[in-house]
Amino acid sequence: MKERRIGNNEPFTMTMLMTPDLANFSGKVHGGALLKLLDQVAYACASRFCGQYVVTLSVDQVMFKQAIHVGELVTFKARINHVGRSSMEVGIRVEAENIQKGDVRHTNTCYITMVSVNEDGKSCPAPKLPLKTPKEKARFIAAQIRKEIRKEHHERMERVRDQWSNNSQNLDPEKIAAELERIRKGNS
Ligand SMILES: CC(C)(COP(=O)(O)OP(=O)(O)OC[C@H]1O[C@@H](n2cnc3c(N)ncnc32)[C@H](O)[C@@H]1OP(=O)(O)O)[C@@H](O)C(=O)NCCC(=O)NCCS
Repeated sequence: MKERRIGNNEPFTMTMLMTPDLANFSGKVHGGALLKLLDQVAYACASRFCGQYVVTLSVDQVMFKQAIHVGELVTFKARINHVGRSSMEVGIRVEAENIQKGDVRHTNTCYITMVSVNEDGKSCPAPKLPLKTPKEKARFIAAQIRKEIRKEHHERMERVRDQWSNNSQNLDPEKIAAELERIRKGNS
């Protein structure tokens, strides 16, 4: 039996045949079905890496630039890009294969952040990420920057919500345009 060490960043791969139950009304694979699979892949990849139960903290913007068709074989290639104290960014590359023709298309890539949690559901430390190859180091840096952008984005969204959820009385369209201009310039 192969011994698996916690903290080993082995690539995680899952392949699924796209069956008709995953289709939307136009016969292509439903975006929500794909999101569910992406979340499952991120769960398995991160939980295997840290040897702990993990929960989903965030899913970065997922772009569906290419449809996936029923009958295609979809492969999710995942790995851990970054580990903080408890959070892990999982990068997932999605490829769809036409089984009969053998054509493989890269349909999208997405980033999901999982957090290692203890029995009380509180965040707990994940193992340190080994960074050996130049590619792993480059992925780590890019993921750290994405983490900082997520935090900034979250904080800005909170400020916008606090400022504007109950503050829109007496604003006609002209005042709204002027207010937006003022905010954009001040970046608040
Ligand atoms: C995930 C969860 C445990 C985090 O709780 P928390 O009180 O924010 O815990 P922490 O403050 O220790 O943060 C945990 C990690 O998330 C990161 N984090 C939290 N908010 C973040 C944000 N807005 N942007 C980026 N990272 C963030 C922290 O930096 C920390 O990472 P690090 O330990 O690697 O530095 C908690 O929010 C939770 O249980 N969420 C529900 C999860 C769930 O049910 N998911 C399924 C969807 S229904």
